[in-house]
Amino acid sequence: MSIQSCVEVHTEWGIVSARQAGRNLAKDVGFGNVDQARITTAISELARNIYLYADKGEICIEAIQELDKHGAKKGIKVTARDKGPGIKNVREVMSDGFTTSGGLGAGLPGVKRLMDEFDIDSVSGEGTVITTIKWLR
Ligand SMILES: Nc1ncnc2c1ncn2[C@@H]1O[C@H](COP(=O)(O)OP(=O)(O)OP(=O)(O)O)[C@@H](O)[C@H]1O
Ligand SMILES: [Mg+2]
Repeated sequence: MSIQSCVEVHTEWGIVSARQAGRNLAKDVGFGNVDQARITTAISELARNIYLYADKGEICIEAIQELDKHGAKKGIKVTARDKGPGIKNVREVMSDGFTTSGGLGAGLPGVKRLMDEFDIDSVSGEGTVITTIKWLR
């Protein structure tokens, strides 16, 4: 029912726009400053990876709601999608310090820690889709 909005990431401006869109939606959903910062940091890392490793792609954000035994819970879903080279070994890139670019290799493990749910779907040679969710509590 909710609308997903996507920002193209192909330049550093795209990274900034994705962050901004994420902060605005997080605020609308009701997240406080600390969680807004966590969500925008996660978006930054995902967008930076798209820019660095896949050249271009998109970050999509969506306000979501799910029913559980305590009632309705709200959250934000961030999807990073690209048609870049893909990730050969997902286990490897999820270990702290693994990098192919001389970076810190802290990006993806960091995103996983900052968000509540994290999933990588990547096919070598075809691209990568990373889906993350943060729940409002
Ligand atoms: N969208 C992507 N497409 C292809 N490979 C990717 C993608 N995102 C990450 N990777 C691979 O996963 C590795 C780990 O990513 P991660 O963000 O954790 O660290 P990093 O980008 O190398 O360094 P840091 O983010 O700390 O500056 C990258 O070095 C890269 O090889
Ligand atoms: Mg990175």
